[in-house]
Amino acid sequence: MKKRKKDVISIKSPAEAAAMRAAGKATAEVLAVVCAAVREGISTAELDRIAGEELARRGMRSACRGYPGHLCPFPANICVSINEEVVHGIPSPKRFLATGDLVSMDLVVVESGGFMGDATRTVVVGKAKDGSVEYLLHGTECALAEGIAKARAGNFVGDISAAIEACANRFHLGIVRELTGHGIGQEMHEAPTIPNHGKPASGPLLQAGMTLAIEPMLLATAGGERILLDADGWTVRTADGSWAAHCEHTVLVTDGAPEILTEIKS
Ligand code: MF3
Ligand code: CO
Repeated sequence: MKKRKKDVISIKSPAEAAAMRAAGKATAEVLAVVCAAVREGISTAELDRIAGEELARRGMRSACRGYPGHLCPFPANICVSINEEVVHGIPSPKRFLATGDLVSMDLVVVESGGFMGDATRTVVVGKAKDGSVEYLLHGTECALAEGIAKARAGNFVGDISAAIEACANRFHLGIVRELTGHGIGQEMHEAPTIPNHGKPASGPLLQAGMTLAIEPMLLATAGGERILLDADGWTVRTADGSWAAHCEHTVLVTDGAPEILTEIKS
């Protein structure tokens, strides 16, 4: 969710789409292992270490590590953002997960040809403190699914945005408007920008071969959308302490149904 480097939307050839598929598969698998390790008392640095180990086993690396920021490059493999943290939390050996925490884990994997997969999963540690947390998570997962369903050749970016916004409204959840989804390929952030709100049939036309990172960031409190950047230069949190959920997949636009590249195929 950053500024794009160029305005041209890259169309992946079949060979490039295959590389995106490999990157997406690794992203999904590594994230699944990290999610399975989530439990009360584990440190966020330990989750990051597990991600590093899984990446090494595959001979791949995270594009998050070293990614340039305002103050310093991102120092870890994964972003771990808890409760009122929205995105880009830095793993720490001093931060321990507690029962009821809402934890999002965001990872971008690069394969050998430089193509990338970007995905985020949010989970609750143990039992949620109340129904509103599961509701927020469920609403955000639905918003992602409904956005992805619009990622079809002949639709427009605005169709994805409008579907996410309509879902957030239906669930009475807030939308973080300052951060967006994005095109992805050999750059983490390519054109187009994919806002999580917008008008149907607006923005760039979708074509087969485009690869998109779709990533709603929703809030338990509609009206709590203002965000702040921590002194660490990375962690983005809600200004009013509203809890946030973030769900993201990298998707290939095809001539038929959207292909989710960062999902584990069973
Ligand atoms: N999915 C995040 C994004 O699109 C990944 C960020 S990695 C980091 O921005 F290096 F920026 F932390
Ligand atoms: Co992203």
